[in-house]
Amino acid sequence: MFTLTQERLSDVPSIERLYAAAFGPGRHARTAARLREGNAPIPELCFIAEEDGALAGSVRFWPVRAGATPGLMLGPLAVQPRRRRNGMGLALIQAGLARAGEAGAAFVVLVGDEPYYGRAGFSVAAPGRFQMPGPVDAERLLVRELHAGGGGASGLIMPAPELSNLSAFAPPGPQQRAANQ
Ligand SMILES: CC(C)(COP(=O)(O)OP(=O)(O)OC[C@H]1O[C@@H](n2cnc3c(N)ncnc32)[C@H](O)[C@@H]1OP(=O)(O)O)[C@@H](O)C(=O)NCCC(=O)NCCS
Repeated sequence: MFTLTQERLSDVPSIERLYAAAFGPGRHARTAARLREGNAPIPELCFIAEEDGALAGSVRFWPVRAGATPGLMLGPLAVQPRRRRNGMGLALIQAGLARAGEAGAAFVVLVGDEPYYGRAGFSVAAPGRFQMPGPVDAERLLVRELHAGGGGASGLIMPAPELSNLSAFAPPGPQQRAANQ
């Protein structure tokens, strides 16, 4: 039985070891890593899974913009090999998506396998909808909209460190909507 909790500073060394074992040294050279450079994960969206008192899995979400639209990038996601196939990966994703949706984030992108992330509602982005700051296999560029505003998100995906506070994603309230009309 595992439990999910928000990542703590004291978890970081174990998380880094987990990511290093899961992805190897090449992980820093990937295009998704460029969106993490000069950026910071959103603390309220960084979850760990613990089992038997030890770190068993981790997920992080990063603030990005697609064109002008604020959103999130999911990753890395990793589960300890001996803890896999027990629903932990999906539970970590869903914990982040639920909190991100409540906070008003419009969309989440990631680079990963659609057969897996499709279980969490992600699908391959329409050709040409997004551009990444480096090469990406188009079949692995996935998106999930969290509310209707996410449907209009498109363009170059860039880091958005100014949005690293979750409250920056608050959807416009009635007054703001009125002011925009
Ligand atoms: C991907 C990962 C996080 C899944 O963790 P998990 O806790 O085992 O995930 P879940 O228990 O929610 O789901 C397991 C199911 O997903 C399937 N699955 C795992 N990786 C998959 C992939 N890349 N493509 C398709 N299906 C996959 C498993 O076969 C299993 O299928 P089953 O339910 O039919 O048995 C884990 O395998 C891992 O850490 N892998 C190495 C790092 C990695 O690849 N991260 C994702 C980056 S794209």
